[in-house]
Amino acid sequence: MLGTGLRDVAAPFLPRPFSIGAREDDGRLGFLVRVFGAGTRRLSAVKPGDELLVLGPLGRPFTLLDEQSAVCLAGGVGLAPFLFVGAEARRAGREVRIVYGERSGDRVFDPKLIRRITGIDPDIRTEDGSLGRAGLVIDDLDLGDRPQLLACGPDRMLRACADLALRHGLPLQVSVEEHMGCGVGTCQGCVVLSAGGEWIKSCTEGPVFDAGELAWRT
Ligand SMILES: Cc1cc2nc3c(=O)[nH]c(=O)nc-3n(C[C@H](O)[C@H](O)[C@H](O)COP(=O)(O)OP(=O)(O)OC[C@H]3O[C@@H](n4cnc5c(N)ncnc54)[C@H](O)[C@@H]3O)c2cc1C
Ligand code: FES
Repeated sequence: MLGTGLRDVAAPFLPRPFSIGAREDDGRLGFLVRVFGAGTRRLSAVKPGDELLVLGPLGRPFTLLDEQSAVCLAGGVGLAPFLFVGAEARRAGREVRIVYGERSGDRVFDPKLIRRITGIDPDIRTEDGSLGRAGLVIDDLDLGDRPQLLACGPDRMLRACADLALRHGLPLQVSVEEHMGCGVGTCQGCVVLSAGGEWIKSCTEGPVFDAGELAWRT
């Protein structure tokens, strides 16, 4: 996780969290940014030569388990960390699939870009069926090789993934999407409830957790 903000102090004042989406051999980093509000709108207008203030990498990343294939379940811009995971897995010769869902086809990030960065053809799902397979990322998955599951997306999707993993007895890591104020454990703005009933900071102890570490309220 990274906090990135524009270098001047005009609104929005607080940095915003982003996943590292790509890493080039020369050290350059890539980010996949979807415009939601003021911060991402400003970032989307950044031009070559503009300066950004970047703090990171922060927090706990996804971890590929040895001797096991992996299925990345990406909801919306939850795709971003899996560009990085997919590319790193390819470098390491690991078998990874990306299942990527959006509400509708017009929101789908370019599959050719995903292929170029990761070498993986994503299995695209849309809720309205306008692109790829109709349905959700958890629908009709081939889990025959008992892969580890990695998930990043909206809370509702993460709950469905936790339920799926539990039913199939598969290991699952989730990246939670809490709002973050500082990224370094100070503001308490990013807490999630642990399975043991304690509030834990997702910026320092996450944002990636084993699903069993968290309380999944219905
Ligand atoms: C660990 C982590 C990694 C992330 N990685 C990426 C990434 O790689 N690419 C990317 O585009 N986005 C990513 N996000 C989401 C991104 O941080 C938010 O979209 C961004 O902070 C929104 O800022 P804004 O100023 O544009 O919108 P704001 O004005 O802050 O908010 C606009 C609207 O979006 C809602 N919103 C803002 N942040 C979130 C959130 N985290 N979850 C749910 N709703 C939210 C607000 O409630 C509001 O309705 C990540 C979030 C987290 C926690
Ligand atoms: S973002 Fe401030 S404590 Fe986590």
